[in-house]
Amino acid sequence: MSEPESTLPPLPCMNIVGAGKLGRTLARLLSDAGLITIGGIYNRDAENSRSALAFIGTGHVVNNIEHLSDHPASLWMLATPDAAIHNCALQLAALADINWQNSLVFHSSGLKTSAELAPLQKLGSAIASVHPAHSFASPERSLSSFASTVCTLEGDTPAIDQLNMLFSAIGGQTTLIEAAVKPLYHAATVMASNYLVTLLSSSQALLTRAGIDESLASAILSPLMQQSLQNGLEVGPLKALTGPIARGDIDTLQAHLDTIEQYQPGLLRTYTSLGLQALKLARQQGSLEQQKLSAMAQLFNAKKT
Ligand SMILES: NC(=O)c1ccc[n+]([C@@H]2O[C@H](COP(=O)([O-])OP(=O)(O)OC[C@H]3O[C@@H](n4cnc5c(N)ncnc54)[C@H](OP(=O)(O)O)[C@@H]3O)[C@@H](O)[C@H]2O)c1
Repeated sequence: MSEPESTLPPLPCMNIVGAGKLGRTLARLLSDAGLITIGGIYNRDAENSRSALAFIGTGHVVNNIEHLSDHPASLWMLATPDAAIHNCALQLAALADINWQNSLVFHSSGLKTSAELAPLQKLGSAIASVHPAHSFASPERSLSSFASTVCTLEGDTPAIDQLNMLFSAIGGQTTLIEAAVKPLYHAATVMASNYLVTLLSSSQALLTRAGIDESLASAILSPLMQQSLQNGLEVGPLKALTGPIARGDIDTLQAHLDTIEQYQPGLLRTYTSLGLQALKLARQQGSLEQQKLSAMAQLFNAKKT
């Protein structure tokens, strides 16, 4: 007896241009969830594509962007560095044998908008950007930590609808964003994510200069940073700020500036710039006299340059 024919529509097939940290992680999440199949995987370096294929577990390495047309797809992810997205869209638009009608092309830049993909929109594709507010430093770790990531979307309505469905299905918390505010939004996410890591590295540098080894430095900084972050998120930065600036301990701040200037002068501007921002919070806390606030501002401004 012959098998009954499946009535399910076929899964959309996704081609990938740029299967780096974010690209391979999203491809694996969407594929493992049974939402899509993977067509061609293209990076400029074929070895990089082979490593992406090994991580995703399915798909076909393509050595030349033109050969993506051998893999008919209705979904295209352009997950190259931001600066390459538009050029990749132009390269794809120049390929004669791809029908872009009824297709969806997206990128995942936090800064750039879907307009980067306009050459493909002109050929009939729906375009969008979807930015997961997630740090994909380790694709393996991101597989388990992606759930509940906020994903901001903008672009053509049909593209948004489909991406909303796909990203929600892998645990993303999708929300719309105005294209015009993406630079501000992205600056905020970079400060919160990349600068937190930079701050960690700056503190580690001072502890190393103090002769404290790596494991003790980590034992000092890990609970301290996590508590401060937790407090800041739970009660708000105004209530969470403690320490010499909140207390108005001017002599302590002077000692910090002197020692940083002597032993780690490259961090002096970081300390004074963030000190001036912390001072705004201390002012809003409202418990310090104006004289102390002014003295601290003077101290930081004197060492700012
Ligand atoms: N990483 C994150 O945490 C994160 C978070 C949110 C959004 N994003 C966004 O995701 C996108 C990708 O970032 P990523 O961190 O995944 O970057 P990545 O790890 O550097 O990966 C970029 C990939 O694109 C390929 N590539 C570079 N230029 C190309 C070109 N001209 N044509 C085809 N492939 C090219 C690279 O391989 P080859 O060098 O071999 O070509 C690489 O595999 C960016 O738009 C970024 O803003 C990243």
